[in-house]
Amino acid sequence: MSVPEVDYAALAKVIESLTENETDEVALMATLACEIHHSDDRFDWTGFYRVTEPGMLKIGPYQGGHGCLQIPFGKGVCGTCAETGEVQLVDDVEAFPGHIACAATTRSEIVLPVHGASGRLIGVLDIDSDQPAAFTEADAEGLGRVLNAVFGNGGHWR
Ligand code: SME
Repeated sequence: MSVPEVDYAALAKVIESLTENETDEVALMATLACEIHHSDDRFDWTGFYRVTEPGMLKIGPYQGGHGCLQIPFGKGVCGTCAETGEVQLVDDVEAFPGHIACAATTRSEIVLPVHGASGRLIGVLDIDSDQPAAFTEADAEGLGRVLNAVFGNGGHWR
């Protein structure tokens, strides 16, 4: 079982400094995807899917191989996260009904909802790993902290 290698508090501080005074959503997501992706070898695909219309996610900034372009709410791990508003922590993607495989090498996945300062769902953060059961509750908590630093009430994005 992998354990968090990344110091999420330190990562949040780095991203806060890199994005200071930035309010553009795509610029913020691009910076988050880059810094999160390179913070831990478990992360083989790191990116955002954005809510572009009611019930639809479309790909946003990401790091890694090609990601599918759109995911309806309720489909796949990302669409389930968007529909339920709940973090999806998937130890074995092949056991997740309707998992959407963008890469054959993916074994586990974590997806978090992303809310703007107003509380509105603006997208999801998706991280895939080629390692089985790569993610833990500590990752969910730490990634939530990083997202909140940028998009939360105290964050830069409005
Ligand atoms: N696995 C995701 C699809 C996005 S690719 O992993 C980048 C899902 O099932 O929603």
